[in-house]
Amino acid sequence: MPYGAAMQADYLDSDPAYVKAFLDHCDLILPMNELKVVMLRPDRDTFHFEPADRIVDLAVSNGLTTRGHTHIWHGGTPAWMEAITDPADLERELVRHIETVMDHYRGRVPSWDVVNEVIAHEPTPSQPLRDSTWLRTMGPRHIPVAFKAAQNADPKARLVLNDYDLEFKGPRYDQRRAIALSLVRQLQDAGIRIDGVGIQGHLYAEIPIDIEAVAAFGEDLKRLGVRLIVTELDVIDWNIPGGPAEQDAAAYAVVRDFLDGVFASGPPEAVVTWGITDRYSWIPDVMPRRDGQPTRPLPLDANFRPKSWHELIMQRVRLPA
Ligand code: G3I
Repeated sequence: MPYGAAMQADYLDSDPAYVKAFLDHCDLILPMNELKVVMLRPDRDTFHFEPADRIVDLAVSNGLTTRGHTHIWHGGTPAWMEAITDPADLERELVRHIETVMDHYRGRVPSWDVVNEVIAHEPTPSQPLRDSTWLRTMGPRHIPVAFKAAQNADPKARLVLNDYDLEFKGPRYDQRRAIALSLVRQLQDAGIRIDGVGIQGHLYAEIPIDIEAVAAFGEDLKRLGVRLIVTELDVIDWNIPGGPAEQDAAAYAVVRDFLDGVFASGPPEAVVTWGITDRYSWIPDVMPRRDGQPTRPLPLDANFRPKSWHELIMQRVRLPA
């Protein structure tokens, strides 16, 4: 089973040690941002593949695998696309987007996050899905339309529904897991293939993992013929008092519990971290530590030294199934 990490093209030229870290440690490297519509398509007529190509080519030329992230994301939709208000027009553009991108990468990118974060942040029975331009303009059918287009564009690619907050304890998380399962069933009932559910794994070092619920979620998916895949693992440590030792100990414990839950139903399709080194992460930008000290969200520290939870991942992914 591959261990992988998301890479940012921004640092490919400026930081050779960054590139080396991926080649030293990863079986899978994927573009973190470069395949988001907002990055790929500055306007309706342009497909700017070059930054993503650099990462995909790096992976493939080194015998590694990769993934595609992502065709539909509320946070990655360009303004020109959000301005499309005619449902038929948006559907045509969505299908054209998926066909063009998956055609470009056919044979090189074997797994795609077709939709990302389509579950409502705080779902209610009447509003299970994310309030996005997609939902407002096309309704819930944007999800099957996207999966169908992806299936047609590259019949061999594995198609994944990716989301966050699927691993903690409490009614909100129970509800999010139930909605993910219901989306899988709805696709299957409509005769549309879905191969995986991505559990992002943006963990909070102080929030316990619901190991049993994650295990049951994996079992439910398995019964539907769908595999879990860990897509964006990292640890938010803004509420952990102390220094690096305390931060890393708390991260280790939460990653261990998370992996216990995920692996309970069998090995996931991959374990992917959202970056590889503390040198570059979204977390200090969005959730900096209150004491102003550096966050330590990723398996290698800012000097590329592996932490104990890096070893934990290696042990899990190398274990025979
Ligand atoms: O590409 C430009 C670069 O040219 C410019 O010099 C630089 C200056 O700030 O900005 C660069 O764009 C940034 C981009 O990352 C690439 O580094 C954007 O400003 C920044 O907003 C963007 O942030 C990303 C964010 O998604 C929004 O796309 C984060 O790196 C990325 O980690 C984050 O990833 C998301 C997942 O896709 C979905 N799940 C949650 C996760 C964390 O928010």
